[in-house]
Amino acid sequence: MVSLNAVEALGLTKCYGRATACQDVNLLVRRGQIFGFLGPNGAGKSTVVKILLGLVPPTRGTARLLGRPYKDREVHRRIGYLPELFRYPPWLSVHEVVKWHARVLGISGRQAVVEALEAVGLADRQQARVKTLSKGLQQRLGLAVAIVGDPDLLFLDEPTSAMDPVGRHEVGELLHAWRHRGKTIFLNSHLLSELEGLCDSVALIRQGRLVYTGSLQTILSARSEFGVTTGPVPTACQREWEGEGLELSGGDGDWVYAGDRDRLPELHAILARHRVAVYEVVPVRQSLESWFIRSLQGEETKYAAHRAADHMGGPPA
Ligand SMILES: Nc1ncnc2c1ncn2[C@@H]1O[C@H](COP(=O)(O)OP(=O)(O)OP(=O)(O)O)[C@@H](O)[C@H]1O
Ligand SMILES: [Mg+2]
Repeated sequence: MVSLNAVEALGLTKCYGRATACQDVNLLVRRGQIFGFLGPNGAGKSTVVKILLGLVPPTRGTARLLGRPYKDREVHRRIGYLPELFRYPPWLSVHEVVKWHARVLGISGRQAVVEALEAVGLADRQQARVKTLSKGLQQRLGLAVAIVGDPDLLFLDEPTSAMDPVGRHEVGELLHAWRHRGKTIFLNSHLLSELEGLCDSVALIRQGRLVYTGSLQTILSARSEFGVTTGPVPTACQREWEGEGLELSGGDGDWVYAGDRDRLPELHAILARHRVAVYEVVPVRQSLESWFIRSLQGEETKYAAHRAADHMGGPPA
């Protein structure tokens, strides 16, 4: 039976001496999805990817890719990989770099190479030497190498970190097109605003441990916020909404109401009672960025609580 999961990671742990790069990482990525793997520097994202690719042996844990054991050679043929740090020989031409990688995969002929270069926008730079390419163009070349074998599962470690906004947009389009063809994409990135329009599901890793896995939709709808634009607000009005437990921040007629949509009429009524002019009420979608920061801050608070409990000799929360 064909597995519905492209990636199944079970308890992946990697220790370097006494340092733990990742611990007990369990992941499920469905086929045909774009999966965003998020976390601050040093969180363990690249380590997890390298374990899955068989480049770093895990201390503990195992994984399956495309329904087969992750070390299976056949599976490796169906995987594309863009490492976070890579360098091709500077004297090779763009075409040669992709051609050599295609050969390793057993692909001969120009067609696949030309298609990969077209897909990443390097078709007109085929004869250029690697040493003449800017950082962003080298990243495009890396992407061409990753896709030349027409892989079913693509691991991209920070694929657009050196690209300008147009380059990022183009890569986003390319990844959408790939998903449309049923491919699975595992994407490490810090560019949260970019992931927002791209990923079906995400996981957040921090200090080697997963702190969230789930759908993007859940995150984006987890908290509703509304921008409220008003005329001058008397103190009595402000006191009244505070008294009713309505949470508004901001000032000078430019407010953000954080809470249930159902309570908006209540807020309206209070404003009307105080004859406050209301010009606009617009929903503010939570950005992945603000969720990311909040999650990390939440973790900080939790850790602080643990430490406080330890200090007092009590059990951790
Ligand atoms: N070969 C190694 N030897 C020792 N420690 C390592 C090695 N590789 C990674 N680490 C450590 O493991 C932790 C996780 O590193 P990793 O590269 O996986 O993080 P990352 O989330 O990819 O970070 P970044 O966003 O900076 O790329 C870090 O503390 C890093 O210093
Ligand atoms: Mg990394």
